[in-house]
Amino acid sequence: MLAELSPQLTSEVTRAATLLQSAKRICILTGAGVSAESGIPTFRDKQTGLWEQYRAEDLASIDAFMRDPELVWSWYQWRRQLVHDKAPNPAHHAIAKWQQRAESQGQQVTLITQNVDDLHEQAGSTTTHLHGHLWRNRCSQCDRPYGDQSETVDKSTLSFDSELINCPHCDGYIRPDIVWFGEMLPTGAWQTAEDSAAHCEVFISIGTSSLVYPAAGLAQLAKSNGAKVIEINPNPTPNTLVDITLAEKAGMVMPHLVHKLNEE
Ligand code: OAD
Repeated sequence: MLAELSPQLTSEVTRAATLLQSAKRICILTGAGVSAESGIPTFRDKQTGLWEQYRAEDLASIDAFMRDPELVWSWYQWRRQLVHDKAPNPAHHAIAKWQQRAESQGQQVTLITQNVDDLHEQAGSTTTHLHGHLWRNRCSQCDRPYGDQSETVDKSTLSFDSELINCPHCDGYIRPDIVWFGEMLPTGAWQTAEDSAAHCEVFISIGTSSLVYPAAGLAQLAKSNGAKVIEINPNPTPNTLVDITLAEKAGMVMPHLVHKLNEE
């Protein structure tokens, strides 16, 4: 049962569906907002409890880890504990359903995410992660992967202990396999994102503040190659390239949009 949308939003969803219906290649970029309705705070949300005094931006960096590895590791262990039992919401499910049906509809729907959670995968999507994976670890010194590297790690076996772990090969500290501020994006993932943005006919930005580059530049790349840009975000963003704005929560709008696409 779909929640009701306002008449204005319904007409914008119809416009978006019409645009998408005729597109062969679609690129979706998601950000923290798509996981907000699953109970995972976004980056610009103020941190709570123990971590209230820190800004996420000040902990997610190699400098912070070099300065105080225990602090950064315990923050990630806390984030993992916060996220481990969270489930995909209607936005993740709608995207996965669309992606799975895309081929039979003659479409290619490439999903790029800035999120480090695995909720898109849990919902059944094929996903390219630009900023790494919350559940994977690697050595901060020799770069070797550490522990389970699978796509949806079994969370029931995890420990959220804040004690640092040493690499069995070089004794360096183990860190989360996440792209921190000032670090390069994984080459393969970025290549996929650039190709998909440059060759799509419609680019959809869902739940991202469009503040963090290079990901925020993908909409510009798509637009300059002739794509139409759709944005789904209940709040305004600095993205000025948007052709259609669906100013509502992703979990509310995406099921409508995908339903409409299946109707047409
Ligand atoms: P942000 O926290 O910057 O932005 C989240 C966006 O989601 C905001 O624009 C909100 O208005 C919007 N939002 C909130 N609830 C929503 C909902 N239910 N539906 C749709 N949108 C909603 O998160 P990102 O843009 O993902 O980088 O941040 C980009 C990167 O900056 C992150 O990947 C992270 C961060 O620092 C790294 O960790 C490298």
